Amino acid sequence: MRRLLLDNVTAGMKLAKPLYSADGRILLNAGLEIKDRYLDRLRNLEVTYVYIEDDLTADIDVPDVVSEKARVEAVSSAKQVMESVKVGHKVDATEAKRVANMLVDELCRSHGTLVNFVDMRTKADYLFGHSVNVCILATMTGISLGYDELRLRDLGVGALLHDVGKLMVPPAIVNKTDRLTPDELAEVRKHAMYGFETLRKNPDVSLMSAHCAFQHHERYDGSGYPRSLRDSDIHQFAQIVALADVYDALTADVSYRQAVPVYEALAIITKAAGTYFDPELVEPFVANIAPYPIGSVVRLSDNRVGVVVDISHESKTKPVVRVIADEHKRRINELVEIDLSKNSRLYIADVVER
Ligand SMILES: [Fe+2]
Repeated sequence: MRRLLLDNVTAGMKLAKPLYSADGRILLNAGLEIKDRYLDRLRNLEVTYVYIEDDLTADIDVPDVVSEKARVEAVSSAKQVMESVKVGHKVDATEAKRVANMLVDELCRSHGTLVNFVDMRTKADYLFGHSVNVCILATMTGISLGYDELRLRDLGVGALLHDVGKLMVPPAIVNKTDRLTPDELAEVRKHAMYGFETLRKNPDVSLMSAHCAFQHHERYDGSGYPRSLRDSDIHQFAQIVALADVYDALTADVSYRQAVPVYEALAIITKAAGTYFDPELVEPFVANIAPYPIGSVVRLSDNRVGVVVDISHESKTKPVVRVIADEHKRRINELVEIDLSKNSRLYIADVVER
């Protein structure tokens, strides 16, 4: 399978992965041949990427750090937990912990696998998919830092619920696509405090998890909010959640900006080491993410186009690429794979499908 921007998907292509709604229903199934009406549906759902199948890439599997089943279950549970808060219930800490523990367990087992995911998520369900992604990315960082299971679980719950306060901000402001007025911006920023208050009052949520909500918009150099904390005054859990939050937001289409490619998001994060983020945390964070995820379509320095098929921890920026088109954009049919880590002349010039 390979990953394409929805703009580049045409009728007749075959969907390689199912598209789920946040409540776990399959919206479009794997194997489905894309017709114009499905394309319209995907556009209406505002999906950024889809994985498609063709004979050149049929054998390429995109390994994930957590199973599809766990991810779908986690998103649907995050939705349930967070939406019940919206209608005034307290956070179902038992459920949040169950989901965070499930993800922590899977991530401990898959440790060593690089993050390849670029979600097929719909815009309406952004917050829930984002919460789960932040939980996954934060937990992986905690594992790299050598956290024990207890800390991983508190970090996981905090990461999963870091934005729960968003549901206490009027939806008209949260979903506004135009520029926010200063008053509206101030209101959105209160989500950190709202989330903290809700979690802090809950005897089943650890205070450290609650601090992920309170401090995930603080920045290492003191430029964040709500309290302009600096450096080690910001709880390390919250600093990790901040990294995961910024990274995941960069790789998604949001109302004011299109998704940036993974390698660019990683470059932005790396550049912010020492200003927004603690360099000691940036390193373990980026170490877990594949800059050119498996399934990405890339242009090589000699203008040939290929799909990333394999990647190793040691040479993350030099993956194995299967050529699918020559320098004149003519499709090639024979199997040509180039291991860029063993070829010093060639490199990735560009990500064709972002
Ligand atoms: Fe936030």
